[in-house]
Amino acid sequence: MPKAALVYISLLICCAGIAYKVSTWFRYSLGSAKFTVPSRVSAAAGGMWETLLSRQFLTLLKTFFLNVLFQARLLRVAPLKWATHFLILGGFTMLLLMHALGDYLNPLIFSNYYSTLNPFLFLRNFFGVLVFIGLGIALFNRFIRRDPARPPTSFMDVYTLAIFAAIIVSGIVLESVKITSVSVFREMTDEYATGQDEASLKSLEAYWVENYGVVSPGVARPFSLESLAEGKDVHSVNCAQCHSPARWAFMDYAVSRLLTPVAVYLDGDAVRSTLYYVHFFICLFGLAYLPFSKVFHLFTSPICLLANAVMDRAHSNPANLMTKQILELDACTHCGTCTRNCSMAFIHRIIPNANILPSERLASLKLLASGQELSVRDSLVIQDGLNLCTNCKQCTLVCPVGINLQDLWFSVRETLVGRDIPNLLVLSPLSIYRGMRKDDIEITCYSRPISQARKAIADEFDSSRQPRTVYAPQEEKVLDMAGIHHLGQNGCADCFRCMTCTNACPIVRTHEQPGSELDLLPHQLMQAVKLRLWDLVFSSKMLWECLGCYKCQEYCPMGVPATDLIFALRNVAISRTSRNIFQKTLETL
Ligand code: HEC
Ligand code: SF4
Ligand code: SF4
Ligand code: SF4
Ligand code: SF4
Repeated sequence: MPKAALVYISLLICCAGIAYKVSTWFRYSLGSAKFTVPSRVSAAAGGMWETLLSRQFLTLLKTFFLNVLFQARLLRVAPLKWATHFLILGGFTMLLLMHALGDYLNPLIFSNYYSTLNPFLFLRNFFGVLVFIGLGIALFNRFIRRDPARPPTSFMDVYTLAIFAAIIVSGIVLESVKITSVSVFREMTDEYATGQDEASLKSLEAYWVENYGVVSPGVARPFSLESLAEGKDVHSVNCAQCHSPARWAFMDYAVSRLLTPVAVYLDGDAVRSTLYYVHFFICLFGLAYLPFSKVFHLFTSPICLLANAVMDRAHSNPANLMTKQILELDACTHCGTCTRNCSMAFIHRIIPNANILPSERLASLKLLASGQELSVRDSLVIQDGLNLCTNCKQCTLVCPVGINLQDLWFSVRETLVGRDIPNLLVLSPLSIYRGMRKDDIEITCYSRPISQARKAIADEFDSSRQPRTVYAPQEEKVLDMAGIHHLGQNGCADCFRCMTCTNACPIVRTHEQPGSELDLLPHQLMQAVKLRLWDLVFSSKMLWECLGCYKCQEYCPMGVPATDLIFALRNVAISRTSRNIFQKTLETL
């Protein structure tokens, strides 16, 4: 198959892959809102058009130069990474332009382009070395320095380093084998040194062995000065116009010196074409697989940086915000900066759930966004990791790609709590952030998980279903606190229903019909505990609406620890119910 056909096929696979990826940005969804694909496409087109025609265009320009080209965000948070990134990306881009596409692009720019002449010969090696240094630093940091704060290395991280290294190494080996090849030398002399007699050809060969790294069994060192001088003459007439000294290709030349002892065995069309095709196929594979690999961030990260520069929750179309979030999943480079700065990452040392780390959580979200049915276990694992996030926003502030991680976590929480597994954390203070962003959630989507969680707890303590006589140690403690075991020592047992607590309670005051809206008023709650009416206690809204202000406890004339009790009751409810939900859902696996 001709080479061009292979290149076109790889390019086609690459383009099809990109088209597929782009289509997922509009098909996949996160969060509680629902949009059709056409409405998202048209919202995106409209949004882009509007931005381009508005003053925000200047912001885009600024972001492009500062953060896309110069990578200022990355420089700020991780200078060494910035340097590594620049070496690899810069070096590789130049190789792509000057070498892979060199024969097409360079003649358009340089009048005297020739791949074997300086500066091109030198530059090709120079850019290769840049990539090598960058890869070296990256490998050192990842595998030798072993920073404990770095998230675990994924297959994609290894692939990315490996594909760049393989392309460069295979190229260098190919070039260095060519440098030593006496048969290429003979082909060249046949073509360009026609009409030279046998003796001058021998001198030319001596000159090339001495100065250009050719390894030939036909001529033997030491060469006489006259022979070298004659060779130089023949060279300058026939070869010099196309060949700068091979030493300028310093990497290829150095490797060719190492190959000298085996060069004669490597000299053959079969070896050269094998090496050539190895290099060629690695490049084509890299190209075809690009949209499915981490290298794809070359496209997605700039788009993400630009989108986040002009989009925000207050002004942008919600459909576009969702599309942007799916794009963000592709834009993540798994650089680990978020994890390094996450205020909750240390917990990962105790609980080995990778989803605690923002960088790893992001990776496991792709499946969730694709709408595929996650196994219950997978959902719970993501949810457990996410539940520890404190919304501190550190991750968002440092992400070099500008991913708005905090918004992403919000959408993921909504996706997860919108499912049928009750999530008790919607009742906890950790869900304050969710309450603060209530306006971003449709009202039914907001309240459904809350009623679902309350119902799960009420069911758990419904004595008609499962009469409970045995109490877990934690529950015993609550009973103890309630003073049930030791009458008359500042527990509920002391309560004489004076209603001071209810009168002091700010939550009671916010309700027009507190009696029916809260199920139990604080003093009734205390009474219900005293009488062990667990159904009433745990199904009451009061238990979950209490904001823990301690007014009731402060004013109670009998010193009933009302607020402490409410917290303790919540803990019992959550721990017992979640344990059982967990068990039940695992049983359904
Ligand atoms: C018209 C320009 C031109 C002339 C004249 C020319 N060469 Fe080359 N030569 C090339 C190119 C281009 C390559 C690289 C071919 C490739 O990469 O496949 C090359 C490659 C070689 C190589 C393989 C090593 C390498 O650097 O890739 C040798 C050896 C070589 N030439 C020897 C000679 C000798 C000896 C002469 C003089 C008799 C000569 N060439 C004249 C263009 C030329
Ligand atoms: S989210 Fe941002 S900071 Fe975190 S790994 Fe991805 S690119 Fe890096
Ligand atoms: S917002 Fe959450 S994930 Fe991000 S740094 Fe803070 S705790 Fe970690
Ligand atoms: S203030 Fe104290 S004694 Fe009065 S009803 Fe409330 S808990 Fe009971
Ligand atoms: S701690 Fe709770 S029950 Fe007590 S007064 Fe405050 S809000 Fe009301």
